Amino acid sequence: MNSHDAFTARLTEIAEQTESLLGQLLAPTLPEGERARPKHLLEAMRYGSLGGGKRFRPFLVVESAALFGVPRSQALMAGAALEFVHCYSLVHDDLPAMDNDDLRRGRPTAHKAYDEATAILAGDGLLTLAFDVLARPETHPDAEVRVALVTALARAAGLGGMVGGQVLDLAAEGRFGDMPRPQTLAEVETLQAMKTGALIKFGCVAGALLGKSGPERLDALARYGAAIGQAFQIADDLLDIEGDAATVGKQTGKDAAAGKATIVAVLGLAPSKERLSALVAEANGALEPFGASADILKAAARFVAERRA
Ligand code: IPE
Ligand code: IPE
Ligand code: MG
Ligand code: MG
Ligand code: MG
Repeated sequence: MNSHDAFTARLTEIAEQTESLLGQLLAPTLPEGERARPKHLLEAMRYGSLGGGKRFRPFLVVESAALFGVPRSQALMAGAALEFVHCYSLVHDDLPAMDNDDLRRGRPTAHKAYDEATAILAGDGLLTLAFDVLARPETHPDAEVRVALVTALARAAGLGGMVGGQVLDLAAEGRFGDMPRPQTLAEVETLQAMKTGALIKFGCVAGALLGKSGPERLDALARYGAAIGQAFQIADDLLDIEGDAATVGKQTGKDAAAGKATIVAVLGLAPSKERLSALVAEANGALEPFGASADILKAAARFVAERRA
C-alpha cells in the first residue's frame, strides 16, 4: 500500500472510531453531577457533531499519540474533545451574525435545522463537554497530563486562539469600527494561525502531551502542526474559489464578496498554491526526528494541500 492509500485507510478507521465515541459521549444517560439532558438540546448537539466531517483533527491526535505508544482509547478521548470544540466552532461560524451559511457538511446548518437560540446553546454545550471529556481518567490516568491537555486546548480555543482569530476574521470584513482590519500578509497569517491553525496544532501537540514527550519531540510536532494548520486554511480558501458546493459540502464563492481576509486575496492564486507546497515541505521537515514512523503524518500534510473537500 502506498502512503496515500495508507493515510486514507487510517483516516477512515479513525473517523469511524471517533463517530462512535462522540455518539456514546452524547448519550441520554446522565453522568454524575448532571440533573437532566434536555432532549431538544441533546439532539441539536448530536446534529452539530455527528454524521459528517473528515475528522482530521482526531486523526492528528491519534497519529501523533501513536508515535509515543499511547493507547488508542486515550488518544480517541482527546481527539473527541478536540472534535467537539471544532464542531462547536462550525455551528457558531455559520450563524447569521457570523458567516451566515445555510449548508454545512452537505446538510442544513444547525440554526437552519433548529433555530438560532438552539444552535448557540448546542455550540455552548459542545464546547463545555469537550473539557469534561479531557478531565476524565479514561483520557489519561495521570491528572497532570489531563491538566496540561485542558490548558493547551483552552488556549488554542479561546481569546488568544480560535475565538480571537474569528474576531480578527470578522474585523477584516469591517464589522467592528474600533478594530483595524487585518490586511497585510503577516496580519492574515496571524488571523489564520489563530482561527484555524491553533486547533490543528493542538491536535499534534496533544499526542506529545499524552505520551509525556520530551521538549524536542514536542517542539517538532508543534512546528509540524503550525505548518499544516496554516496550510489547512489556505486550502479552505482555495476551495471557496475553486471547489463546488456538492463536493465541498458547504456553499462556495462567498469569501471575496464578504471581504474575508485570505492569503489568496493578499497574494493571488498561483503564489498561494506555492505557499501551500512550501508549508507541506516545512511540515514534513519538522518530522525528521521521527524517521519513517511519521510517514502517515507526512502523507497527512500532503492531503491537506491536495484535498478537494
Ligand atoms: C472547516 O474545517 C473549517 C476550517 C477550519 C477551515 P474542516 O474542513 O476540517 O471541516 P470538517 O470537519 O471536515 O467538516
Ligand atoms: C473557519 O473559517 C474557522 C473556524 C473557526 C470555524 P471559515 O469560515 O473559512 O470556515 P468554513 O469555510 O465556513 O468551513
Ligand atoms: Mg468564518
Ligand atoms: Mg465560515
Ligand atoms: Mg472557508
